[in-house]
Amino acid sequence: MAKEKYIPKASIGGNKDKSNISRGQFLSWLSVGWLAFVGATGGFFTILIRYLFPNVLFEPPQTFKVGFPDDFEVGKIDSRFKKEYNVWVGRSEDGIYALSTVCTHLGCTPNWLPTDRKFKCPCHGSGFRISGMHFEGPAPRPLERYKISLSNDGQVLVDKTKSYKHEKGEWENPDSLLKV
Ligand code: FES
Repeated sequence: MAKEKYIPKASIGGNKDKSNISRGQFLSWLSVGWLAFVGATGGFFTILIRYLFPNVLFEPPQTFKVGFPDDFEVGKIDSRFKKEYNVWVGRSEDGIYALSTVCTHLGCTPNWLPTDRKFKCPCHGSGFRISGMHFEGPAPRPLERYKISLSNDGQVLVDKTKSYKHEKGEWENPDSLLKV
C-alpha cells in the first residue's frame, strides 16, 4: 500500500486564501497604476497639443489703409472700419480724420446715427458730435483721434499706435487731421 503524503490542512486553505488576496491586490494596484498612466499620458498630450496649437489672439493690424481720399465725403462718417479696426473715418471741410469707437465714459461702443448726425452710446447715453466732441451724457471728454496720413500709393493710412486727445490740445497736431 502506497504511503499517503501528509499535507497540513491549514497550509492548503491558507495558501489558497493568500493567493486570492495577492491576486486581488495585484489587480487593484494594476488598475491604480493604469489609471495613473492614462492620466499622466493624457496630461502630457494635452500640454503637447496646447504647445503645438497655442491660444493665439489674432489682432487686426494697428496701421492700415482705408481707401483713397475721394472715397470719403464731406460731412459723412464711414463706418466700414468699425467692426474690424474700431475706427470711424470722417471728413469735414478741413480734412479727413479717424475716430476711436471707444466711448470716453466707460469704454462701450457708440453707434453713428446718420439722421441725428451724432454718435450715441447705448450704455449710459453719452452723445458725440460728428467731430467726436462730447455734448451729452456722462462722457467726460471727446472721442480720441488716431494718426492719419497719405501712404505712398495715395491711400489714406490710419495708425492706431498714435492717438490724439482734444482736451490736451492734441487735435491741433497736423498728424490728427489729413488735409486733402
Ligand atoms: S460707456 Fe458710453 S456712456 Fe457710459
